[in-house]
Amino acid sequence: MSENRIRLGVNIDHVATVRNARGGFHPDPIRAALLAEKAGADGITAHLREDRRHIKDTDIERLMAEIKIPLNFEMAATDEMLAIATRLKPASSCIVPEKREELTTEGGLDVIGYYNHLEGYIAKLKDAGVSISLFIDPDVNQIKASNELGADKIELHTGSYVDAQGNARMDELERLRVGARYSGEINLEVHAGHGLNYETVEAVAAIPEFTEFNIGHFLIGEAIFGGLENTIAEMRALMDQGRENCA
Ligand code: PXP
Repeated sequence: MSENRIRLGVNIDHVATVRNARGGFHPDPIRAALLAEKAGADGITAHLREDRRHIKDTDIERLMAEIKIPLNFEMAATDEMLAIATRLKPASSCIVPEKREELTTEGGLDVIGYYNHLEGYIAKLKDAGVSISLFIDPDVNQIKASNELGADKIELHTGSYVDAQGNARMDELERLRVGARYSGEINLEVHAGHGLNYETVEAVAAIPEFTEFNIGHFLIGEAIFGGLENTIAEMRALMDQGRENCA
């Protein structure tokens, strides 16, 4: 296995979305996490939103107890989430912006705008031994500010790249490349995620500085047709192919 291999974090939020549609227990997101682990996922990501629209508190507690691979706990920078993260101590917390009315996480965290709030907030999480990731747009100034804040890593938002078409997509890919390269220069671990699918993942995997992708919606949706294990294996293969192309 190449030491240059990109880790795959599987986001299971939308298994919970389907479960919650009927208010019962099926499908169980923890069962999906365990299957993802078996299929070769390197981590599990789950976002406990303020409105608990998909993942619930008990899901996070069960994930912490039942999975062996690291949990990447996505959270807004609120007091409520700080209390949960410092109590449960997931392997890492990814701080994301969160607005109640949005469909999903739209745009990255404004680290520059919220610098003062984040400074104390991150320090408390780090004191509890939680590794911190900040979910930001591929913008050099945001990356620089994240590094100054003491983030252990950043995750660059790939949504604009995925949503764009043709030359505009190439421009967005270049933004990701520039952001990842800058992160490498300042020795800041850099991840990517949001909206990635079979069509868009390889080109991002070819950017050598990326060490982890977090992918959810496409994997869970595609699993309806191909099964979760096959879908993860196919995504894994495309990531490896993309990484080989950059060698
Ligand atoms: N990374 C972060 C920080 C996210 O907020 C999300 C969406 O919850 C993802 C990755 C995964 O995005 P998607 O579900 O579109 O693959």
